[in-house]
Amino acid sequence: MPSDRTLREVAESRGFDVGAAVDADSLRRDASYRTRLAEEFSALTPENALKMGPLRPTPDTYDFRDADAIVNFGRANDTTVRGHALVWHNQTPDWFQSWDYTDDQLRTFLREHVHTVVGRYRRTVDAWDVVNEAVADDGTMRETVWYDAMGEAYVDRAFEWANEVNPDADLYYNDYGADAVNGKSDAVYDLLDRLLDRGVPVDGVGLQLHALGEWPDPASIAENVRRFQELGLDVQITEMDVAFPAGEAPDDALERQAEYYRDVVDVCLETGVDTLVTWGVRDADSWLRSFRDFSERFTGDPLLFDDRNRPKPAYRAVSEALSE
Ligand code: GLA
Repeated sequence: MPSDRTLREVAESRGFDVGAAVDADSLRRDASYRTRLAEEFSALTPENALKMGPLRPTPDTYDFRDADAIVNFGRANDTTVRGHALVWHNQTPDWFQSWDYTDDQLRTFLREHVHTVVGRYRRTVDAWDVVNEAVADDGTMRETVWYDAMGEAYVDRAFEWANEVNPDADLYYNDYGADAVNGKSDAVYDLLDRLLDRGVPVDGVGLQLHALGEWPDPASIAENVRRFQELGLDVQITEMDVAFPAGEAPDDALERQAEYYRDVVDVCLETGVDTLVTWGVRDADSWLRSFRDFSERFTGDPLLFDDRNRPKPAYRAVSEALSE
């Protein structure tokens, strides 16, 4: 049954948060974007503003303007805010390339970064993606600058440093391709199991759920969620979008997409996942339009609102699933 309530109202009435990744420029410039965010979503994730590259123009400085704008907007509109992401191999600062550091200097840099960023938002950010994508597609630990300098211990330290500054925040490990039960999620599961064994303060796991071309089977997502929960971890869907391979969208693409969103919300409700964040608001803002490799491979309309900011069938499907 169509609802005259907003998605946010429907979701909140059953203790569920539907969120969106937020772009700082759109937030500043576009009133209709702000309205959609405030009315329809109760959880915000800065899409880029808290990544190390944008935050660290030089080795000794921070630029918090975009992150502050998004975090303050979230607070003003009573949403939760997810900090994304403290440690990642992508979107590192440009000056990193030419920095001739020792392992010890890199460790000190990372510690200071985590302490400063988590400390600044101690009262305003509820959850952090502390480490993003540490596991490679073949299930081994990804070889990153952090791994090369510190080994797997970089993951432990990052969680410990974040926890030192804000013991109240929920601290997540976040990854893609680990949504259903598969080789990669097995490896993520094993990593989290080791972290917990070592007493690392990790609270949960974020499943990104970029459903691109191949959409993970909902029953298998449910099984995967449950095994993480059995480790004592919270599970959230942190970056959802749904696209077809380019040139292969069927005539009823928007309905099929809506069905998939509905199935995933049903999995959340069944398993007790209480947060689902979509990676953007309007299709026109999606990273799938602007990342060249991806824009050639996938359809560019993966979200709940269309280019003109109108709700799509997927929007209604999510709302209906949450109303049932
Ligand atoms: C990953 C990252 C996100 C975003 C997306 C799409 O999933 O976690 O921050 O960059 O890729 O670009």
